[in-house]
Amino acid sequence: MSKPRVAVVMGSTSDWPVMQHATEILDAFDVAYDARVVSAHRTPDLLAEFGKSAREAGFACIIAGAGGAAHLPGMLAANTSLPVLGVPVPTEHLGGQDSLYSIVQMPKGVPVATFAIGKAGAINAALFAVALLANDDAALARDLDAFRARQRDAVLDMTLPPAG
Ligand code: RP5
Repeated sequence: MSKPRVAVVMGSTSDWPVMQHATEILDAFDVAYDARVVSAHRTPDLLAEFGKSAREAGFACIIAGAGGAAHLPGMLAANTSLPVLGVPVPTEHLGGQDSLYSIVQMPKGVPVATFAIGKAGAINAALFAVALLANDDAALARDLDAFRARQRDAVLDMTLPPAG
């Protein structure tokens, strides 16, 4: 098993139904990852420890998903200069807009790349991580281009009305 290049971190196991879409993409591209729960407000010491050691651990980037007052991506970014890709997890009362605003509105100086709320965001964060790794990996770049080509062909094959 190769060394994980991507960390997939989430605030709770309750985020998994959304965040598993990110790990499915990484699996599809054969990118090794480490998935774990780290809570910004419940395990702040673990968060700092994980963030500070993430570069030395060999990660190229961190995908971080959280819901509500979603401090996890921003606080990870505060503890590492690795790229942090934030995924706003949908919430019961505010539909994930709370998560989105919490993650996207980082004050200047410590960025978090923020993706769409929910499944689309989890998938795109993983695709973005693949794109980052593909900068130094020609085979992965070819796989990413092939993925795009399959999406293109699927759309070109679409006819209306849609088949039932
Ligand atoms: C956040 O609080 C997590 O990211 C999760 O989205 C939300 C709820 O967590 P649980 O109460 O389900 O553990 O920290």
